[in-house]
Amino acid sequence: MGNPLPRMIRRTGSFLVFLFFARAALPLRSHWPDREWKSARRGEGTVDKVMQEMGKTVFMTERVRVGQLILGPFETNAYVLVCLKTRCSLLVDAPGEPERILSALSGTFPQGILMTHSHSDHVGALARLRLERRLPVAAHPEDASALPVPADSLLHDGDRIPCGALEIGVLHTPGHTPGSLCFHMEGLLFSGDTLFPGGPGRTGSPEDFRRILESLRTRIFPLPDDVRVFPGHGEGTVLSRERVLFQAFCARGYSPALCGDVVWEETP
Ligand SMILES: [Fe+2]
Repeated sequence: MGNPLPRMIRRTGSFLVFLFFARAALPLRSHWPDREWKSARRGEGTVDKVMQEMGKTVFMTERVRVGQLILGPFETNAYVLVCLKTRCSLLVDAPGEPERILSALSGTFPQGILMTHSHSDHVGALARLRLERRLPVAAHPEDASALPVPADSLLHDGDRIPCGALEIGVLHTPGHTPGSLCFHMEGLLFSGDTLFPGGPGRTGSPEDFRRILESLRTRIFPLPDDVRVFPGHGEGTVLSRERVLFQAFCARGYSPALCGDVVWEETP
């Protein structure tokens, strides 16, 4: 009978390799907030219910999870961005129903609220979130004065916002409002009311319409084709699809008086 030690070492090594791959196969579950997972395991709710409370997941990798909440009478989208390495989170817009937003943020470390613009259908929960959770509010200076609460920080084109291991880029895209912002991160674009599937956001004058076209031409469409777009209302889209429609619209030409709710394909 030989020395059993080498065989034990081999078996232990195989077991450790098995554990490593078993752990790698479940990389995301351990990143979810403990409270939700523990309550789900206790049978207080299914995992699906927990995910629903945190908002519909519209994008997820090992680094980031994006949850979407549809809030308020105008069905405005709010997005919760979570860094899955650190649980730091950011909220994009605060349209209303603060309890649902707080529920979606629970178990994370909220860093603040990024405002795409100051219209009333995007700001309904702002005062309560700032008061109760002391979440700092960030907006462009040209929209900040129209918010129902003072902005804690002012954002400008080209700024970079840290969120744990993530970094969010700021794009100033005037047109829908003077201080409209879009946020760009890891192949994702949060476009507020600047870009929707099939058209730009509503503009109040031909000058504003030309301004939003310029914003799209210079700040949005230089981004890569595969960027996923998450707008302030409705479903998302992908930038390559919108670029084709936008270019066809520009090639056809348009009335100098054009403004309002413009759809790329329907405009004569
Ligand atoms: Fe708006």
